[in-house]
Amino acid sequence: EDTGKGGYDHYMLKEIHEQPQALRQCLQERVDELSGAIDLGDDLQQTVRGAEFIQLVACGTSYHAALYAAQLFRSQGVPAQAFVASEYVTAPPPYSEDTLVIGITQSGETADTLSALREAQRRGVETLAVTNVVGSTASRECADALYIRSGPEIGVAATKTFSAQVVAANLVAAVLEDRGTHHDFASALRDLPSQVQEVLDETNAETVAERFVDSEAFFFIGRGYDYPVALEGALKMKEITYEHAEGFAAGELKHGPLALVTSETPVFAVVTGETGSKKTVGNVKEVEARSAPVVAVTDGRTDVGRYADEVLEVPETDSRLAPVLANVQLQLVSYYVAERLGRNIDKPRNLAKSVTVE
Ligand code: AGP
Repeated sequence: EDTGKGGYDHYMLKEIHEQPQALRQCLQERVDELSGAIDLGDDLQQTVRGAEFIQLVACGTSYHAALYAAQLFRSQGVPAQAFVASEYVTAPPPYSEDTLVIGITQSGETADTLSALREAQRRGVETLAVTNVVGSTASRECADALYIRSGPEIGVAATKTFSAQVVAANLVAAVLEDRGTHHDFASALRDLPSQVQEVLDETNAETVAERFVDSEAFFFIGRGYDYPVALEGALKMKEITYEHAEGFAAGELKHGPLALVTSETPVFAVVTGETGSKKTVGNVKEVEARSAPVVAVTDGRTDVGRYADEVLEVPETDSRLAPVLANVQLQLVSYYVAERLGRNIDKPRNLAKSVTVE
């Protein structure tokens, strides 16, 4: 595999652009194009279908994928909860013999996540690693592993692996759902890589970055599946630009954070799919009334664009997959803000790609 920058200024930008390919690899031979059947192999499917309760453990960006996955699994009727791995170890939640603990970890080497998985194993609970690295500690120590197949990710900021983690979560959810075939969903999954390409080809993220680079802070809001994307948008922004950024559940804004909002703090509103996005438009109006600039990241299913100063569009897809597309736009905005500020994008200060201490 080519580990050079391939003509891009940074690994991060290269990896953002590798997302269509990474997602194709994640789907390959797992989704049957004709029948729509999803096949993750007998062992893994048996493990997943045997789960009455699912606990997800992860850190950072992978935790945002875990939050997304927990919501997805709950929508299939399976009680599921995401935990920050270090907190899971500090205050382990109750479990039963039908609990499955899923560790989401790009590297498979994050100490906090490994600790949480070991805690689960000590209790005799089944564990599954969703990871990018074949042969990593997580993949070796867990009973099962689901590889996201993104190829090497060199930039400290996780980009293509978040998208692939979200797609992998959808494959697990489809197995949980156990409908045998999943025609509509399979075609939405099949189309996702080219829709990511469309976002990459047509994005105006650089213009948005240019307009707001001198802001005092950046806020991100979203609801439902868009909520983890809001958190991820903020993490990416703070990680590579060193600017103050926060992500909130859209409905929480009025419970305190709204006091921070001024004309100097752009609010990125992620508004996709069907999950309550009309209510998020209401939150956007509240923000607009406080004269904060609004950047809507939207698939056009609502009229949020009417209340926005800038719009980052994404193509329409299944509500569950839209967050991947929205997140690509936010990755690009953070990248271009960091580039204009002259940050060390691939190796931000104080951070390591893989955090091997607790
Ligand atoms: C993401 O941009 C960060 N570099 C960081 O939050 C990362 O996702 C976290 O440390 C977890 O890493 P892992 O997925 O390898 O376990």
